[in-house]
Amino acid sequence: MIPRVIKEDIYWVGFIDWDRRLFDSLIPTPHGTTYNSYLVKGSEKTMLIDTVDFGKENYLLNALELAGIKKVDYIVSNHAEQDHSGSLPKILEKFPDAKIVTNAKCKDFLESFLLIPEEKFIVVKDNEEISLGNKTVQFMIAPWVHWPDTMFSYVKEDRILFSCDFLGSHYATSELFVSDEKEVYLSAKRYYAEIMMPFRTMIKKHLERIDNLDIDIIAPSHGPLYNKPSFIIEAYKDWAGDSVKNQVIIPYVSMHGSTKVMVDYLSEKLMAKGVETKLFNLEVADAGELLMSLVDAATIVIGASTMLVGPHPLAYYVTYLVNAVRPKTKFVSVVGSYGWGGNAIEVIKGLITNIKVDLIEPVYIKGYPRESDFKALDTLAEEIFGKHKEIGLLK
Ligand code: FEO
Repeated sequence: MIPRVIKEDIYWVGFIDWDRRLFDSLIPTPHGTTYNSYLVKGSEKTMLIDTVDFGKENYLLNALELAGIKKVDYIVSNHAEQDHSGSLPKILEKFPDAKIVTNAKCKDFLESFLLIPEEKFIVVKDNEEISLGNKTVQFMIAPWVHWPDTMFSYVKEDRILFSCDFLGSHYATSELFVSDEKEVYLSAKRYYAEIMMPFRTMIKKHLERIDNLDIDIIAPSHGPLYNKPSFIIEAYKDWAGDSVKNQVIIPYVSMHGSTKVMVDYLSEKLMAKGVETKLFNLEVADAGELLMSLVDAATIVIGASTMLVGPHPLAYYVTYLVNAVRPKTKFVSVVGSYGWGGNAIEVIKGLITNIKVDLIEPVYIKGYPRESDFKALDTLAEEIFGKHKEIGLLK
């Protein structure tokens, strides 16, 4: 692809993947993505910061050729995941004298994943710098956004932070910098929900650290760059912060309609009390939309049909997913129906081990809801309302 100038002698040389619709064999990417690779030409040395996904190496090589690059001295690997490192072996073939600059953890991963020999590496520690002549690159070890190997690279003279996956978005665009903040906000939030949300504590630390940096541009590994960094930094502070919204997320599966009647009834009762609800029918729900909704919500109510004697596999799946991404949700409950018996509630409760939540008494009934069951749902709605009120979300 054509190299694009970010600042003098600093270029984007990545790949725009308009067609990508799934990440990690799990997460929909409705707007595609980009793999951002960056070229920094110093007066003495040339550095590439990250590469592109496996199979896209020719686009990167083409961009380097168009930029007139005959020699690469350093290839920084901020993170070993293959969407950024997959083309490293091919780039090394083209530039055999280049050294890979990374931290010890990332080196270990690159050796394992890509079988890159040890002598190719220069291992850097936190705050270490490499001079390219008139440009200085500082490395900041920033684990767990979202792997243990992550680091940032900061070009001091140009005040550009190459933030790796952190602060990125799966958003394919021909624009180098964010122009439509609303659109990118949603993609960045989806991305945060999918891979960053489990690491809120680390995110807060990294945000504090970069608050002390003088930053003109944030250049993440996915999506457009930010030439108004406060937009994404403030968004992350909000998402990773402790405050929750007056929302109840209700992912549900209903085999024969009873659970659906229950979640609809509960939703209406909550709405009547001024509580916002979002229902996700798990037969058709977009996992990214669901995860995005979990970023802020105070409460999750799982709607579970019973299959054989346990929760329907979709209810099991969503509970597992919620537990894995560790939202800041404060309250959880379950509603559902069974035919001849079951322990769906116990199984679901047993899956919620990673998040500290207040479990509100579930409503689990036999067959189609009767009057007493609707009363139990009234009580559940009242309890959720009360909990939201207790933490100041309602007056
Ligand atoms: Fe975009 Fe964690 O790789």
